[in-house]
Amino acid sequence: MSVPLPPNAEVLADGAAVARAAAETLVSVCAQAKQDRIAVALSGGSTPKLLYALLAGPEFRERLPWPRIHWFFGDDRVVPWDDPASNVRMAAEAFGADAPIPVENLHRIDPAGGAEAAALAYAKTLAEFSGAARPEPEKPLFDLVLLGLGEDGHTASLFPGTPALSVHDAWTAAVPVPGMAPRVPRVTLTYPGLASSRLVLFLVTGAGKQDPLRRLAAGEDLPARHVTSAGEVRWLLDASAAGR
Ligand code: 6PG
Repeated sequence: MSVPLPPNAEVLADGAAVARAAAETLVSVCAQAKQDRIAVALSGGSTPKLLYALLAGPEFRERLPWPRIHWFFGDDRVVPWDDPASNVRMAAEAFGADAPIPVENLHRIDPAGGAEAAALAYAKTLAEFSGAARPEPEKPLFDLVLLGLGEDGHTASLFPGTPALSVHDAWTAAVPVPGMAPRVPRVTLTYPGLASSRLVLFLVTGAGKQDPLRRLAAGEDLPARHVTSAGEVRWLLDASAAGR
């Protein structure tokens, strides 16, 4: 049965079509960027793997200004970067070893010292890159923030009922007890951190996402509902997630 769609949603045939539409969006974001450095926050989980592989592949590789793009993470698990649960490892495998990403353009969340220390260190990275100690709505850091939707309605590592939802004056928050597997501590961008963007793009695929989409449409107070942007929030869904 069709799922009521969030505002600014586009339904595409399948995951590959969603990845292609997201890749075209990034090409367009880069073409419109007026400043030299372009900042993209990568999503974790499994949905974005197709996109990352597509970006580094023959169809899109030459269409992106790789030396100008700085890659950040919307969140990560506080584990070593070679751990199977790491979003850094997921992205590295999906982009592939020959992706033309200069190492100085890759801004990973350093797990050393645990979640609190990692959150502070990542906030420092964001502050140094942006020149703002905390998110300033009038000076968005990210040109594009990629997000997924968890089956419990979380996004990044903003899980229902967790203290990170109430952090409104910092780039990042530690998430010692996430609401879903993998049950390892996390670091996440906060709502203001996500909002410090010109465009937020949710990528949602698979029938398992029908339930959180329905709950969002029914007005449930789920974390994904509260994501805003200094620019636009858009959704790319495949037909399975949209119940089409
Ligand atoms: C993470 C992600 C998380 C993810 C959703 C959807 O670190 O796990 O940032 O927010 O986007 O859980 O995950 P899937 O794409 O695997 O369904």
